[in-house]
Amino acid sequence: MNAQGGVNTPARGYPYDGTVAGPWWKSAVFYQIYPRSFADSDGDGVGDLEGIRGHLDHLQWLGIDAIWVCPFYRSPMADFGYDVSDYCDVDPLFGTLDDFDRLLAEAHERGIRVIVDWVPNHTSDRHPWFMESRSSRDNPKRDWYIWRDEVNNWKAAFGGDAWTWDDATGQWYLHLFLPGQPDLNWRNPEVVAAMHDTLWFWLDRGVDGFRVDVVQGLLKDPSFPDDPPGGVLPHSELNDCPDVHPALRDLRALVDSYPGDRMLVGEVYLLSTRQVAAYLGRGDELHLAFDFTPLYAPWEADAWRAQVETTLAELGPVDAVATWTLSNHDNPRHRTRYGGSEARARAAAVLLLTLPGVPFLYAGEELGLEDAVVAADRVVDPGGRDPCRAPLPWDPSPGDGGATENPWLPWPPEPEVRNVATLADDRASILHLYRRLLVARHATLSLQRGGLELLPGTGSVLAFARHHWDERRAVVVNFATTGAALELEGDWDVEVASDGRGEGGPFPGAVAGDTAVVLRPRPR
Ligand code: GLC
Repeated sequence: MNAQGGVNTPARGYPYDGTVAGPWWKSAVFYQIYPRSFADSDGDGVGDLEGIRGHLDHLQWLGIDAIWVCPFYRSPMADFGYDVSDYCDVDPLFGTLDDFDRLLAEAHERGIRVIVDWVPNHTSDRHPWFMESRSSRDNPKRDWYIWRDEVNNWKAAFGGDAWTWDDATGQWYLHLFLPGQPDLNWRNPEVVAAMHDTLWFWLDRGVDGFRVDVVQGLLKDPSFPDDPPGGVLPHSELNDCPDVHPALRDLRALVDSYPGDRMLVGEVYLLSTRQVAAYLGRGDELHLAFDFTPLYAPWEADAWRAQVETTLAELGPVDAVATWTLSNHDNPRHRTRYGGSEARARAAAVLLLTLPGVPFLYAGEELGLEDAVVAADRVVDPGGRDPCRAPLPWDPSPGDGGATENPWLPWPPEPEVRNVATLADDRASILHLYRRLLVARHATLSLQRGGLELLPGTGSVLAFARHHWDERRAVVVNFATTGAALELEGDWDVEVASDGRGEGGPFPGAVAGDTAVVLRPRPR
């Protein structure tokens, strides 16, 4: 591995003048908000835009730089908003366009950027475009979707075939997800122009960028090849068609033509960092791309060492910025995946917030939330993702007289202790750990954008240094449940400890089980 770590190293010329150089998104910490579950301002059981606005002070206190708000557009909610029936309006469940404008303005007043989710691969079957398209074979919008007389064997992401027969017009239409989410035909220039218009709409309103849904699926192999029987990575979900790249270059040009460092972060659901990196082009496609390989990595030192090496080897040479996600609205929360230990979730927070690149927090991980237990009669998601989407408890009795007595999903475990108010009052809480890590990161250029060097560590310990000119930090993560000793060159003090112990004092040369520390060189 390149000892410089490859990501925004001084060697590549970020002049150190005491300020942070480069566009904001290269060193931002993003916070993902699933609006149904964040905060419910009107007590109907579903979160809303006003709920987000009402908690901006809290997010500012926490210290995140940007929020990504999952879809809040008009939608029949078959996929809870990822089935859009109007890209340019807010669903009444979530509020109004005025609510959005207020949210954006008040976030900006607090220095918080806002990116919105953009769902270009498919619309809802209730979108007027699809209603027209399916109305007759010679409708001018027929070719806006993918209609066929004969179909291949692709399966849809949430089960069943990826093709649905339309009786009225006697053809099949393609949907990589639900039948209520027909795929747009991105080979039709009218579709491209109409979807570009939706980007202009939100750029004009002042958003700072977009999270782009299902980027790898946007363009399909024009020969629509059958998937091999028993394939583990079905074509229908992955696609990864090379023709997506010119489409992304056009999107990049559009977004970059707008003043003010707007950006695109794409959901590229390909479980290979090399393939994901291809979606950044030569700095002329996505600004950032989600890499989910770390999300699927086990909580083991060797796996993470390999993960860090691969990420830097793939992204370093193209001078691209890595992204790191441990949890999101599509996967079990990492505390649950890692076995439920809060200590381990705290150690994971140290790792997530000190790796080079851009971390994405998923609302609730800063509370140490675990997945909710969702009884069979409360299941609502066709994709089985309800447990990670449980609502955020804001106070100790969220189900008792609070704004939301009957939330759309059950509360996560222990809401009476694991809620924002209780944890904000407790300086030893995981919430305060996230805050201390964010404070340290913002005060430290080496953590924000320094290079990375792996340090020799024993089996269960991952240790690395971050450096920016002569500023250095070291990070030590112990993946084992038992303590481990570690010899580091030089004398170090503990800046942040996942268990809060010994902060400000000398590093004792050992880390307890399931803990992690950020170290700074002891001043001479
Ligand atoms: C993305 C979203 C997921 C959604 C799917 C279809 O994978 O993250 O929540 O169901 O796209 O839009």
